[in-house]
Amino acid sequence: MNILGIETSCDETSVAIVRDGKDILSNVIASQVEVHARYGGIVPEVASRQHLLTMVPVAEKALADAGTGLEQIDAVAVTMGPGLAGSLIVGVSFAKSVAMAVGLPLVGVNHLEGHIYANWLSSVQPELPCLCLIVSGGHSDMILMEGHGRFRKLGGTRDDAAGEAFDKGARILGLPYPGGPAIQNATRGVTTSLSLPRAWLKDNDDFSFSGVKTALLHMAEEKAAPDEQWVKEAAAAFQDAIVEVLVIKTIRAARRLSVRQVLLAGGVASNSALRDRFAADSPLPVLIPPPVLCTDNAAMIASCAFYHLGSGNPDNSNLDVMPGLAFG
Ligand code: KG4
Ligand code: ZN
Repeated sequence: MNILGIETSCDETSVAIVRDGKDILSNVIASQVEVHARYGGIVPEVASRQHLLTMVPVAEKALADAGTGLEQIDAVAVTMGPGLAGSLIVGVSFAKSVAMAVGLPLVGVNHLEGHIYANWLSSVQPELPCLCLIVSGGHSDMILMEGHGRFRKLGGTRDDAAGEAFDKGARILGLPYPGGPAIQNATRGVTTSLSLPRAWLKDNDDFSFSGVKTALLHMAEEKAAPDEQWVKEAAAAFQDAIVEVLVIKTIRAARRLSVRQVLLAGGVASNSALRDRFAADSPLPVLIPPPVLCTDNAAMIASCAFYHLGSGNPDNSNLDVMPGLAFG
């Protein structure tokens, strides 16, 4: 079964064609990072306008790259939420038009569920039950996945998401947007003597990252003339603090729940320090998609839809955008 996936929840316009939930025939991603970088963050009105400009060319390229016509597509899948309302509307309207014009079923996908399914876009298929850590610009969620469509949220962030903290921390240090990759680059080969606090929030699976961000701000304010070396060391201390909490709390929960594997998902899962630390510390197998499938992409949306259709979920051609859609 070939599914055409569409993703426009934030600042990437992406269209992909995925066969049987795991084989990527094409995955075209038009990033708006350069457009938003000059504002230091995403401007929603600019994002939706960019989606309008790129939606059709990106879809045409996805079909061309896959070497398929619409007659070889079996269903259309689209992110319905959570995300920016104006951005979601562009993708959902386009998906409805294609599905209606060609007479295909339409599947609405939760963006967070989609992130998890990036782990199915591989020859090594995950084993269930598993513990999923979704770390993106808007979420830091720990999810128990017992089966396809069977998710239980164990915890989330009480304030800033991990990606949001990386973005704000980078701004404090004068590093560019998006902050996660900028901090990762700044810390390459750096050892630091600086240290920042960790919020463990004992005996639960929640996270909190606003405290470490404020501590970084105070540390930067106290430093009279921060030079390049100090910025790198502060970035390394900040990254260490976020990574350590994510890794230790996730491994602790995985042990408690006796899951078979840990799955990472979301843009922050492309962070090399996080990937290395999980690989070194986890007693359980940890699956992490390649970086390009950690950040927003349509292949993960198409994969997720394959399992929705497989479990008999009906066509939802009347779907609407749900910007505040929660997990499950
Ligand atoms: O999943 P994603 O592409 O979009 C959302 O659904 O939010 O995640 C974007 C977030 C941004 O906050 C970005 O700074 C962060 O992921 N990110 C990273 C890295 N690459 C992207 N954070 C840390 N290290 C990275 N290498
Ligand atoms: Zn995302």
